[in-house]
Amino acid sequence: MNAPVSVEILRQHLIDPEICIRCNTCEETCPVDAITHDGVNYVVKADVCNACMACVPPCPTGAIDNWRNVLKAEAYSIDEQFGWDELPTQNPTVGAPAAYATPAASTASAGVDALQAAATQIDGDAAPGSGSDLVRGATVPPWSAARPYVQLYTHKAPTTATVVGNYRLTDASTESDIHHIVLDFGTMPFPVLEGQSIGILPPGKSADGRTHHARQYSVASPRDGERPGYNNVSLTVKRVTRDYSGNATDGVCSNYLCDLKKGDVVSVIGPFGNTFLMPNHPNSHLLMICTGTGSAPMRAMTEYRRRRRLKGATGKLMLFFGARTQQELPYFGPLMNLPKDFIDTNLAFSRTPGQPKRYVQDAMRERAVDVAQLLKDGNTHIYVCGLKGMEDGVLQVLGEIAQAHGMAWDALWERLKREGRLHLETY
Ligand code: A2P
Repeated sequence: MNAPVSVEILRQHLIDPEICIRCNTCEETCPVDAITHDGVNYVVKADVCNACMACVPPCPTGAIDNWRNVLKAEAYSIDEQFGWDELPTQNPTVGAPAAYATPAASTASAGVDALQAAATQIDGDAAPGSGSDLVRGATVPPWSAARPYVQLYTHKAPTTATVVGNYRLTDASTESDIHHIVLDFGTMPFPVLEGQSIGILPPGKSADGRTHHARQYSVASPRDGERPGYNNVSLTVKRVTRDYSGNATDGVCSNYLCDLKKGDVVSVIGPFGNTFLMPNHPNSHLLMICTGTGSAPMRAMTEYRRRRRLKGATGKLMLFFGARTQQELPYFGPLMNLPKDFIDTNLAFSRTPGQPKRYVQDAMRERAVDVAQLLKDGNTHIYVCGLKGMEDGVLQVLGEIAQAHGMAWDALWERLKREGRLHLETY
């Protein structure tokens, strides 16, 4: 009688090139540097990935959460992955590894056993919550959040929207060119919730002849439209003129968007996002912390609550908003016009001539007593959006305030994550 042949099977982590919007979040998040990219695709090194799952919750589209069972010796190389326009299908003759939460290949019998074991393990069945110590924000939405629609439109099948408004938000005297852009979907369904994002497909091709992939923007308008009752959304877009190293560059999509005229038609995919969502119970409090264009979701939530306030919402809104100067702060005028008893607004400017540098964290420290009051309340939901660098500082100051007011931060932080009450979106 023949003994079964043993082969090593790997549950290989892959990124779906059709959904990925190349935002770099996964590469920044990966604690073991298993993710890399070229000008086309984001890919995962099979021999480095340890399936810790740290990259999965922050991915705005879900492209990251793809897995294929492969023979370890035949794992897809990163060069193969760079060449993909779509993911390969699961080879049904390769069985599932016994312990798929670790990429260390497990052993299974080839042949009939493997065939039977296959089929049960295909996409996205990773254990929720694994690697939670590496995940800094919630991976679940608030309990009272509305159900979001996601990925109604994809790179392969986008929809279109017409530009119905494009206004500069920042003072003409400043270098920072931030626009408020309103897109109308006409009769096409495009339901969004505050906190979700959409992808814009810029026209044209990159230097290597490929069509541009989508760029992601947070929606700045509430669920019932930039104008209530209209099928439109607004975006807050900063014209990119420098890369991360400070060298001059023209951001492909931001320049395209900022230059759009009324009546122009854009290709749109999405919506994306199913956790960075606002609570819907009327006594929920929103603690919002943002910089620059990170104000988009805060504007959406604030405006939704402003409209709803008329219908009896009683929860508090507290905002910390950072910008270089008042002239560079998007929505400064409208924000200042909101009633003080509706939203507690705290601005922090870092480059006002003659004034010391001030970040949102500094403003939070000054308001520690009121922030602590909110931290103590189980109805408080915290949102952080904007510069990556701010994330550490904000978590640090939340911890300091909690500890100084008799709350054990580590336990509170875990609870906030578990209860979908701490949401981070930084870039
Ligand atoms: P800075 O003057 O140091 O750049 P931007 O205009 O680049 O979008 O930035 C928005 C605001 O966020 C600016 O005031 C910027 O200050 C500030 N900022 C930069 N780094 C941090 C950080 N680590 N924490 C909080 N705010 C920051």
